[in-house]
Amino acid sequence: MVIGGGRGIGAAAVEALARQDATVVVADTDRLPSAFNHYRSTRVSGFADAQKLAARLSEAGLRVTAAEVDATDEAAVRELYGSLAGGPGRLDVVVNAFGVTHVSPVEQMELTEFQQVVSGNLDGVFLSSKHAVPLLRDSGGGSIINFSSVSGRSGFAKVAHYCAAKFGVIGFSSSLALEVARDGIRVNAICPGMIRTNMWSYLLSAFVRPGETEDECWERMRTMIPQREFQTPEDIAELVVFLATAKKVTGQAISVDGGMTA
Ligand SMILES: NC(=O)c1ccc[n+]([C@@H]2O[C@H](COP(=O)([O-])OP(=O)(O)OC[C@H]3O[C@@H](n4cnc5c(N)ncnc54)[C@H](O)[C@@H]3O)[C@@H](O)[C@H]2O)c1
Repeated sequence: MVIGGGRGIGAAAVEALARQDATVVVADTDRLPSAFNHYRSTRVSGFADAQKLAARLSEAGLRVTAAEVDATDEAAVRELYGSLAGGPGRLDVVVNAFGVTHVSPVEQMELTEFQQVVSGNLDGVFLSSKHAVPLLRDSGGGSIINFSSVSGRSGFAKVAHYCAAKFGVIGFSSSLALEVARDGIRVNAICPGMIRTNMWSYLLSAFVRPGETEDECWERMRTMIPQREFQTPEDIAELVVFLATAKKVTGQAISVDGGMTA
């Protein structure tokens, strides 16, 4: 199960897992609960993209189906996992790859914005994990992979709500790892650095300096990375595949950030 897999990093994780012979459900949503996100809209067409991805990968002979879910909606998440419960397969791996960000200095941030950015990143991690654990236990164990960020390791100005949530994803993941360790269920967090997905398209528009183009702004960001190379969705997907199968790795937060948080 890859939630938030319609595009960006999640889509690369779907393809990488499917190429490892997994049967993948790619779940996403066309409508977010709030417009405080990097799409600046509640309309995101994530499910439409998930359907296109599933069709493209199925044509290539891989086993991928699309499902619609808003990860912050408990009834929808319960139904998503419930739909697997009676099926022929078993649940082995859950990737919670959704996330939202928004840019505001704390002094100008409304409480609703703070709450909705925190909720958009954290509620789904909780709900998806909560409803996946019984199925993973029935499978004899498995792997939950939650998406934190370089912003879960270090503060960044104007995204305090996003950082609060991404630090939270790490705390949640290590706590759950302790609860379910003896059931053979592993829980880890991935902390990507900078990948030019929709999220960074928005961040560039917010961080661009007067007289600078967005491409020039992106090049300026490169100086924050010791390796001086941006990561790609495929770089992050490599770690997803590793964490899906690494039997003794649990309760960890692992960065793929070119040394940004070294
Ligand atoms: N792009 C980066 O540089 C970067 C860096 C660090 C961490 N991350 C994290 O990686 C993850 C993936 O980000 P991305 O860059 O691929 O973003 P993206 O916007 O390209 O993709 C996110 C996907 O999640 C879906 N989504 C969002 N909220 C959802 C919800 N409530 N229910 C279901 N689906 C939902 C969106 O529809 C979209 O398809 C996020 O957790 C993000 O915070 C990204």
